[in-house]
Amino acid sequence: IEYSLRPKPLAGKRVLITCGATREYIDGVRFLSNSSSGRMGFALARVFRWYGAQVKVVAGFTTAQEPPETHVQRVVSAQDMYQKVMELKDWADIIVMNAAVSDYMPERKETGKIKKTQSLTLRLVSTPDILLHLGERKGDKLLIGFALEERENLLENSRQKLRRKNLDMLIANPLEVMDRDFHEGYILYADGREEKIEFGDKVISAELIVKKVINGLLSKSL
Ligand code: CTP
Ligand code: CA
Repeated sequence: IEYSLRPKPLAGKRVLITCGATREYIDGVRFLSNSSSGRMGFALARVFRWYGAQVKVVAGFTTAQEPPETHVQRVVSAQDMYQKVMELKDWADIIVMNAAVSDYMPERKETGKIKKTQSLTLRLVSTPDILLHLGERKGDKLLIGFALEERENLLENSRQKLRRKNLDMLIANPLEVMDRDFHEGYILYADGREEKIEFGDKVISAELIVKKVINGLLSKSL
């Protein structure tokens, strides 16, 4: 029903969405990660499809239910996600980086299981910043990012991310929306416009975001 009720202005458009949490393994059984559920990314996949787009999802670990009839490619680490996104980016007209990508990974992964000792020091190194990389070679794609920030600095830091990563749109989220059914935040645009997303279910926010993308494409203001 949800599908057949919507008009299909995105017919022919190809959308790549990343979501969920990456896992950076320390040894064979332990990892660094975060509590991202994949809810928002899966909701976006669902809604983009309602409006006629072809959708591919690259997902890390998720607890949310996968969207129906959608191609979901699973990856584990930030490095894996980087490779998969690089493989698929030329296919896409629109890329939405919703994944909670780990900023660090262990310098090396031990084999087997690390034994318990008095103390353990882990050396972490940076993962590739997938979105930054995409922004540096954007071409005529539409590039949409997310930002997770503490409330006090939400807008200020998000404005910087939008510019630094060369995005068309950025969804700024306070920490509280992670791993929740509910969402709130702001949509920031490259031209400086900013819109509030009122508190509500993630599917409602996802539909609002998709409608903004459609309006932007139609009015060429994105
Ligand atoms: N992102 C990415 N690759 C990374 C880290 C982040 O593509 N290695 C993307 C996220 O998917 C998101 C955006 O960058 O769309 C912002 O992520 P966020 O964690 O809010 O910001 P960072 O740039 O990682 O900076 P910080 O965590 O220090 O706030
Ligand atoms: Ca980060």
